[in-house]
Amino acid sequence: FFSNVELVPGDPILGLTEAYNADPRGTKVNLGVGIYYDEQGRIPLLEAVRQVEQSLAAAAKPRGYLPIDGLPAYTQATRELLFGKDSPLLAAGRVATTQTVGGSGALRVGAELLRKALPHATLALSNPSWENHRAVFGAAGFEIVDYTYFDAARHGLDFDGMLADLDKLQPGTTVLLHACCHNPTGADLTVDQWQQVAALLKERQLFPFIDMAYQGFDKGIAEDAVAIRLLVEAGIDSFVVASSYSKSFSLYGERVGALSVVAASADQAKAVQSQVKRIIRTIYSSPSTHGAALVAGVLTNPELRALWETELTGMRERIHALREGLVAKLAALGHPEYEFIRRQAGMFSYSGLSRAQVDRLRDEFGIYAVGTGRICVAALNQENLDYVAQAVATVSRG
Ligand code: LMR
Repeated sequence: FFSNVELVPGDPILGLTEAYNADPRGTKVNLGVGIYYDEQGRIPLLEAVRQVEQSLAAAAKPRGYLPIDGLPAYTQATRELLFGKDSPLLAAGRVATTQTVGGSGALRVGAELLRKALPHATLALSNPSWENHRAVFGAAGFEIVDYTYFDAARHGLDFDGMLADLDKLQPGTTVLLHACCHNPTGADLTVDQWQQVAALLKERQLFPFIDMAYQGFDKGIAEDAVAIRLLVEAGIDSFVVASSYSKSFSLYGERVGALSVVAASADQAKAVQSQVKRIIRTIYSSPSTHGAALVAGVLTNPELRALWETELTGMRERIHALREGLVAKLAALGHPEYEFIRRQAGMFSYSGLSRAQVDRLRDEFGIYAVGTGRICVAALNQENLDYVAQAVATVSRG
């Protein structure tokens, strides 16, 4: 039966972890996948999460099914975190939030919803974007077009190019926007630029699809959600937010994400929610409990929430320090041109390294980066920083 099945290449990001795991070298470093590692090179188990986990274990609750759209305490806390507790949208019942299997699950369920609801299934993606965006929306039947985003020569945002390309899109096109910590480039919009984009989206009747996988990893919880606030302020009455707690709660394998759909009225939000439930029922029926119970347990307890915010701030500040450290070491090794790494936001740096240089990093040093030159700054520590800086300096010399 499977004689015609072709072997396809491994995933460009998760496939790197497989190669890294199989590498016997003791000096190897995985700068591929977007995971925050602590100073000891471990994925942290946050203290706030640990405390909830202990009380859940002690309570030893039965394992029934969750509702199709997830744990109510989780979806409510998520809505408040994304839109702000006092958002008029929440009071008006205009946001339908659903627990999903990670941020990727939110993207796919959201894509399935929009394919049915919108006039045409076309998605505009930033060039470049997260490798899986194209694949997820493509698999859901979307036609994908690119919009200009990154200026490789200046290692920053090409804002004029972005506006010009968005302006050319057909009304009703879905536009995927990274709320903060753009993956892979680390180049984000300023508040003023978000305002201009929001105005253009409204005027051109484009449909915003916000991907919010790193809330709290650049400036702070509310600051990193500014795009959502500005879309609302611009008077855009319908849009979608896919969000994830993988990074902000260090709960990667628990697959805790959410899809929040903003609709023009509470009745529309109800109708949308019913469709989302139908979509989920035919893919995975209902979500799993544990990760959502952990997040809800932290966010609904004021002390644990404050502890989590402190821990999140710690992760964020450490990433900023690692950026500084890498830039300083590279400058000391004769490569001041990497100064731009300091300006980038979030976990990633689009290093400007070519595919050939990335291959050399892997082959000669056991350092794994994405083929596009994306490196995960959050995988650095004082132990491997020198080694990585030396290796980058060596391959940069050609
Ligand atoms: C990444 O970009 O590395 C992360 O979002 C993990 C993933 O699933 O690709």
